[in-house]
Amino acid sequence: MSTAQVLRDQFWHLLCHRAELPKNGDYVRLNWLDQEVVLFNDSGDIVVFDNRCPHRGVRFFSEDHGNGAISCPYHGWGYRNGALHIPCREHYDPAVLEGVKLGKLQSEWCADFLFVSPAPRMTLEEQLGPTYDQLATISFNIVERADFNVGYFECDWQVAVENALEPLHVPYVHPETLGLLGLANDDNTLHEWTSVLRAEISDEPRFKKLRSIKRLFNIDEQYEGYQSIFMFPFSMLSTTFGYSYSLQNFFPTAEAHRTYFRSRLYTAATKSPAAAEALKPFFESSAQVNRQVFDEDHAICRRVAHDFRSSGAGLLAPGEEKIGHFRACLARVEETL
Ligand code: FES
Ligand SMILES: [Fe+2]
Repeated sequence: MSTAQVLRDQFWHLLCHRAELPKNGDYVRLNWLDQEVVLFNDSGDIVVFDNRCPHRGVRFFSEDHGNGAISCPYHGWGYRNGALHIPCREHYDPAVLEGVKLGKLQSEWCADFLFVSPAPRMTLEEQLGPTYDQLATISFNIVERADFNVGYFECDWQVAVENALEPLHVPYVHPETLGLLGLANDDNTLHEWTSVLRAEISDEPRFKKLRSIKRLFNIDEQYEGYQSIFMFPFSMLSTTFGYSYSLQNFFPTAEAHRTYFRSRLYTAATKSPAAAEALKPFFESSAQVNRQVFDEDHAICRRVAHDFRSSGAGLLAPGEEKIGHFRACLARVEETL
C-alpha cells in the first residue's frame, strides 16, 4: 500500500458539517485517490459510502453536491431507509445477493462535524486529542454552507498541505487578500496529530471593522484574530474572528503532482434574520476572497519543483514549525509501513 493509501484508510478525515445535509436526499461527494465518497442524508441518517453501485460499479452520483436519490441509472438498483432495493430480485441468485451491500465507510460525529475513515488505526478522540473539544464547540457555531469550491492543485498533496501550514508566504503570495490583515505574532500549538496556528491582525482599521460586526453574530467561540487548525493528514479549518470557517481538504489523487482540492465556507450563527441579511455581502466577499487566496496558493505551489524535498528541520523558520510537525507525523506513519 502506498503512503497516501495508508493515510486515507487509517486516519479520520473531516468531510462535512451537519448543516450541509439538512434534508432527506441531500448529499456531498468528495474524491480521494481512485475513490469517490458520498455523504448522504437517508431519512435523517447520514450514510457514507463509496460512490459505486454494488451491481456493476456505476457511479450513483455525478455531481459534487445536491439533492437526489441513491438510484443507479444502469439497472435501477437503489438504497433508501437503510436498505438496498433491487428490482427484479428473482433474476439473481439469492445466495449471491445475500453478500451484496452498499460499500459503506465508517463515520463518527465530533458534535456537528462528520469524520470519515475506511479503517481507522485509533479512535477519533485519540486522533484529535485536545482539538476535539475545540472542534466540537466550533461546530455548534456553524449554521450554513455558503460556498463549495472544487478544484485541483497541480502539485503533490504534501506541497499543498505544507503551503497551507505556514503564514510566512502571506505577504508575498497574498498581498491584496489575506496579506491585508497584517498577520503578526503567530503562535503555534502542536498536538499529537493536530496543530493550531493563531495570529493577530495588526492592520488596525481592519481589526476594528471586524470587531465592530461582532454584535451581528450569535457565537460563543471566538478568537479575535486568524486561526487555522490542521488535522493530519489532509484537512484544515481556518477562520478570521470565528465569523466564517473555511474547510479545506487536500486529498491525494491517483496521479503524481496532482491534488484534489475541495473547500467549503461555513458561516457562523447570526443574531437575527436582519443581521443575516446585513452580513450577506460580508459572507459573499469572504467566499470570493477565499477563492482568490486558494488560486494564489495554487499558482505558487505548482511552481515548486517536482523533485524538490527540503532537507529536514534546518531550513524551517520558527513560523514554519507546523511544517516540521507535519513531516514528523508523516515520518511516524512511514516508519510503520
Ligand atoms: S450497475 Fe447499478 S444497477 Fe446495474
Ligand atoms: Fe497561502
